[in-house]
Amino acid sequence: MCGIVGYVGSKNAKEKIISGLKSLEYRGYDSAGIAIPINGSVDVRKCVGGIDNLEKIIDDINYDGAVGIGHTRWATHGAPSVINAHPHINASGDIAVVHNGIIENYTEIKEWLVDSYGIEFKSETDTEVIAHLIGVYYDGDLHEAVNRAVKKMRGAYAIAAIAANEPDKIVAVRKDAPLVAGLGKGFNFVASDIPAVLKYVREIYLIENNETLVITKDDVKIFDKDGKTVKRDVFHVTWDVDAAEKGGYEHFMIKEIHEQPDGIKDTLNKRVDKDGNIMLDDIKLTAEDVAGFNRVYIVACGTAYHAGLIGKYTIEKFAGIPVEVDVASEFRYRDPFVDDKTLFIAISQSGETLDTLAALREAKSKGARILSVVNVVGSSVARESDDVFYTWAGPEISVASTKAYTTQLACMYLLSLYIGKLNGHISDNYYNEIIDALRDIPEKVQEILDRKSVVEKLANTFYKKEKIFFVGRGTDTVASKEGSLKLKEISYINSFAIAAGELKHGTIALIDEETLLFALATQDRLFEKMVSNVEEIKARGARVIAIAKEGNEQIAEKSDEVIFIPQAIDEVMPLLAIVPLQLFAYYVSKNRGCNVDKPKNLAKSVTVE
Ligand code: F6R
Repeated sequence: MCGIVGYVGSKNAKEKIISGLKSLEYRGYDSAGIAIPINGSVDVRKCVGGIDNLEKIIDDINYDGAVGIGHTRWATHGAPSVINAHPHINASGDIAVVHNGIIENYTEIKEWLVDSYGIEFKSETDTEVIAHLIGVYYDGDLHEAVNRAVKKMRGAYAIAAIAANEPDKIVAVRKDAPLVAGLGKGFNFVASDIPAVLKYVREIYLIENNETLVITKDDVKIFDKDGKTVKRDVFHVTWDVDAAEKGGYEHFMIKEIHEQPDGIKDTLNKRVDKDGNIMLDDIKLTAEDVAGFNRVYIVACGTAYHAGLIGKYTIEKFAGIPVEVDVASEFRYRDPFVDDKTLFIAISQSGETLDTLAALREAKSKGARILSVVNVVGSSVARESDDVFYTWAGPEISVASTKAYTTQLACMYLLSLYIGKLNGHISDNYYNEIIDALRDIPEKVQEILDRKSVVEKLANTFYKKEKIFFVGRGTDTVASKEGSLKLKEISYINSFAIAAGELKHGTIALIDEETLLFALATQDRLFEKMVSNVEEIKARGARVIAIAKEGNEQIAEKSDEVIFIPQAIDEVMPLLAIVPLQLFAYYVSKNRGCNVDKPKNLAKSVTVE
């Protein structure tokens, strides 16, 4: 996830590119940059942070032109820094490139460039190889040089390039990363996404994989991979900028809920090879390290803490090491037993949550090995950890966390299996069974999303309830907690979650005819017990919605409503059970007229204690 904008016209390229980048900040916002050909060279300006920061370093009147490319970054290779920010330039500084995606064989290309041309690399990015590749092939024809460079690259990318010697054009390429061209009169755009250009144009070319564009102020030419000209119909955009940023969804939250199949797939596919081996490049744990741990602490806040609770189940089960899970704000004030035999795992979407960071520092000062599961590359938690496991969920904009949570869960599964292999706790058969079950999860999450109207109808029926509780057993207790948190944070309904077996030890006193209760029953080995719990609850007059695996009809007879979710082995059900609860919270919030993406009293990144 990064955002690209390129503009070719007669003047004011800077203003157009900045406007486009601002509309693309939802694609990433950790650093930004712009390049404009000025007086025979390419003038590149870059900064850490968002587009507001970029504006401050380009406000001199001498910095403008008729052509330029810009970028807003969401770091993958290399931390957010000025050096790693795009655009990247070639060795002689007359070609600049912006890129969204990953060049899988960049190490190989880099070695070739160093050995054959003695090129010195400045950044840690994969993108820099593209600038140098185009540079070594450049012989006065940017289009030709880009074509040759692309032939050497493997991976997913959208690229836009400019050359100082051809200051009237941009050459762009698309492969497995979004790219559009915006068509104006006397000017044209290229961009990662439609919102970037909607302020200026509504006529668009949607670019297909393996197509190259040559954009000048009066023309946009499209070529296929064999270099043949492609004729493309113009797509006329009728929606507004706000809707476009959300990819047609009404809110970021529902968009991000729908991004979960891809998010989980990315987290799994990029780490698990076809034989089921897990490769964790940024984690340097050895079998010897693992043998030295006598306990694991998982520390996090809110939703990330819930991912930690699932981590306790998975690490204890797959790796056989005792795990304690703590909310970060409690951990450091209670003298925890942490020493150099402790593996400390911090989980954080933002990587900037102050309580989590402070807990991490406390554990580090006591000698623990620090491993973090983080979404934002180069964030404070990531930087201060010995090992980092990136969730790669892409930027999460909605305050209520959804895709970050399910990708955190996917990471916890992989990490637990990885450690279990290193210490030999897990058998090969059981390991393979879990890997196979995980591989099927994205499709099953998609099935739940395809049937979301079932959940929407229930939300339409029950959105006025003022007491909505959640119960479950085993990992369903955790899904209950997360479902309850989602509901209360965006709909302000009084809600709690409790282990179903604990209900009758006091809390059942709160249950009456006004209560709506979610009974999560996705664990086969605890199913009978959950059915008995549902009977107890029904006897107090509450309305019950059960969440159960397809085919478990018995619960349908006992409860008022059932949301069936696809069958899978118990161990991986947390990745499925949460999805209908996210959807329920979303539709209830919408029905109640709440601000879904920015609920009251909350912030996306909590950097105070
Ligand atoms: C709830 C939510 C919060 C965060 C918590 C930790 O939807 O988003 O509970 O999970 O504030 O934030 P990170 O993961 O950024 O450390």
